[in-house]
Amino acid sequence: MTTAQARDILSQEFAEDPYPTYGVMLEEQPLVWHDPMQSYIISRYEDVARAFREPVFTSDNYEWQLEPVHGGRTIVQMSGREHAVRRALVAPAFRGNELQRRFLPVIERNAAELIDGFRDAGRADLVADFARRFPINVIVDMLGLNRDDQPKFQRWYENVIAFLGNLSQDPDVAAAGLRTSAELTEYMVPVITERRANLGDDLLSTLCTAEVDGTTMSDQDIKAFVSLLLAAGGETTDKAIASMFKNLLEHPDQLAAVRADRSLIPQAFAETLRYSPPVHMIMRQPDNDVEVTGGTLPAGVTVTCLIAAANRDPRRFADPNSFNIFRTDLPTTTAFSAAAGHLAFALGRHFCVGAMLAKTEVEVATNQLLDAMPDLQIEPGTVLTEQGVFTRGPATLPIRFTPTPR
Ligand code: HEM
Repeated sequence: MTTAQARDILSQEFAEDPYPTYGVMLEEQPLVWHDPMQSYIISRYEDVARAFREPVFTSDNYEWQLEPVHGGRTIVQMSGREHAVRRALVAPAFRGNELQRRFLPVIERNAAELIDGFRDAGRADLVADFARRFPINVIVDMLGLNRDDQPKFQRWYENVIAFLGNLSQDPDVAAAGLRTSAELTEYMVPVITERRANLGDDLLSTLCTAEVDGTTMSDQDIKAFVSLLLAAGGETTDKAIASMFKNLLEHPDQLAAVRADRSLIPQAFAETLRYSPPVHMIMRQPDNDVEVTGGTLPAGVTVTCLIAAANRDPRRFADPNSFNIFRTDLPTTTAFSAAAGHLAFALGRHFCVGAMLAKTEVEVATNQLLDAMPDLQIEPGTVLTEQGVFTRGPATLPIRFTPTPR
């Protein structure tokens, strides 16, 4: 029996440390109605996994949660055949040979450029100087967009993410999201027209020419998908890299093991996704009444699925509140597929299409960062903290190391 108290998920105490509340929900309140959010909340592994796998849990909630900011429908809110065809248009670019051949050099170049910016300094903030910039720079470069515009994309993606995580419906955040949608359309439409006329080996050209069963992507579809990629591939990978380094720096023995044997990086990444997932919650909308632990979810309601709580459900993981890259109940072989044990990429038909890209980014970044900083340590005297409710990760990660020559 836990002694912690459940906090309102919109409260300051929850934002500071959500894990005690997750513990109470897992043990005592597996189904909660949250009035300000007008949403049910579920937390147990079995319930959250079902919400991702079973078609009765639609993702129609993204109509209000995402469509306005992307300026169009995107795969994450589709279902059935429409989803399958649309996903098949984009999925090949994000896996296997395509990923290795076309995008590995892009990922390596972007990691090296950012690290060169601080490797002589002997100190850095791994969040501001690396994690926050790396995934967006990679996406902009993969799409074959102007690299000088990376700061613009950085701002746009922050607005898109704020819109998605606007649990308290702040009107300024909503307005910034809608402005971003208009600015991104203005930027992207001429670029897409130009690219259709001059195709290259980049991701934008792939999207311009992709065709499955006679379905192709319109300019508006492509713009909305680019907007989705900024949010889905930027914020998440940013927080994943930062959280993995935080977790390893706080467990120096595990950091030393990864440094000595780089084949442990996927294991360290998988455990990070379980222990400190970048996306703490996502929503679903059942189209029929569904029984879950603790009661019935009525058709049409919004259900908040607490990924970060489910990943620490003691019914599923032994000693769930410990970070342990050597745990035996989280196989690395499936951790980046729809059969994953953790729920950080969801499961089922909407399982993250960018999971292999994220894994490649994390492997490249970690190898290069460890090589550049042989004696990496937390800046002495710093206590590392996390921030964010919908998405969560370290706010800053000040580090020290002996400078290495280029
Ligand atoms: C550690 C990094 C990442 C995490 C934790 C993550 C998490 C997720 C989650 C939880 C979903 C499911 C959303 C839902 O079902 O409502 C998702 C879907 C998606 N992700 Fe990721 N993601 C990551 C990296 C990426 C990257 C790098 C990309 C591409 C650049 C990407 C693109 C997408 C797309 C397009 C979808 C929608 C798939 C669909 O609806 O079929 N993600 N991701």
